[in-house]
Amino acid sequence: MYNGLIDRLERDCVLTFDEYLTLIEHRDECRDYLAQKAAAVRDRIYGKRVFIRGLIEFSNYCKNNCYYCGIRAENRNLQRYRLTVDEILNCADSGYSLGFRTFVLQGGEDTHYSDEDFCKVITTIKQKYPECAVTLSLGERSFESYKALKEAGADRYLLRHETCNKEHYEKLHPAAMSYANRMRCIDDLKSLGYQVGVGFMVGSPYQTNDDLANEMLFIKQVNPQMVGIGPFIPHRDTPFGDRTAGTAELTTFMLSLIRLTLPNVLLPATTALGTIDPMGREKGIMAGANVLMPNLSPADAKSKYMLYDGKICTGDEAAQCVECLKLRIEKTGCHIVTDRGDYINQR
Ligand code: 5AD
Ligand code: FES
Repeated sequence: MYNGLIDRLERDCVLTFDEYLTLIEHRDECRDYLAQKAAAVRDRIYGKRVFIRGLIEFSNYCKNNCYYCGIRAENRNLQRYRLTVDEILNCADSGYSLGFRTFVLQGGEDTHYSDEDFCKVITTIKQKYPECAVTLSLGERSFESYKALKEAGADRYLLRHETCNKEHYEKLHPAAMSYANRMRCIDDLKSLGYQVGVGFMVGSPYQTNDDLANEMLFIKQVNPQMVGIGPFIPHRDTPFGDRTAGTAELTTFMLSLIRLTLPNVLLPATTALGTIDPMGREKGIMAGANVLMPNLSPADAKSKYMLYDGKICTGDEAAQCVECLKLRIEKTGCHIVTDRGDYINQR
């Protein structure tokens, strides 16, 4: 009985709030059909290709105190590290040799680095590897900073909005962080011409099914090129350390809804999904995802970039991760490709 709704979602690429909510509430009865449709839409637009992005987690210093995040400033039980500009560039070099053609610079909001530092990294990578895309994930910054980084050559920017509900946002973050500024950042990034990625956690504390239905309307309205979602996973040294984790089941369901709502979106099967379920990333791909973001940082950095407990792939060399992912993805009927994997605009 839900197949009709799903067929209409496939045709119109949008539903009403009530319709999204109905599907979410009755997901046990429609998840297989939804996943099958979502994978077919992904295949129609991108084929069976899964894009890989080389993630460089350059610093775990962060000035913020998100209640869910393991690298929050107030966590004193964490050894902090930051890579130098040269170390970041070395990561990109080794990533390039492994076949990566997109580099994602991700870190806590670390005020140690200036715009000039980041611009140097971007221009050097672009100069050396003009065929590569540079994606930034540096958190909230000023319009001027986003502009300087764009002019230095950055192509894409990931900034998860975390939740589209302002009251919910305020339960996940201390008063020093505002929903309004998060939205301002996303608007600025779009207006500067970045390919933009937003996203949210699934099963974060206080999240309701209504919130999840609203997330679909929110992403429809923002129309981003990328959407990153993963299950919330508690980290013991945070205020949410004893909260319940999100599930792979609900996360993959949301991945399918996102694929049908934004057919062309670049959609990662995240490390958090692979952490909560050993087959999570494969399930994500089978539910319509088409991006993987393995880590290129040096081993000691990786083991310290602990946003949540139990994070996978923190001991392996990047080369091992690539081989492991290749085998895993082949079992889903898809295959990894190493081109830039740009957003495809037409239907
Ligand atoms: N569980 C799952 N995801 C988390 N993130 C931060 N902390 C957690 C956690 N405990 C996600 C946030 C952030 C991204 C980099 O990682 O959504 O935007
Ligand atoms: Fe660093 Fe949330 S704790 S941005």
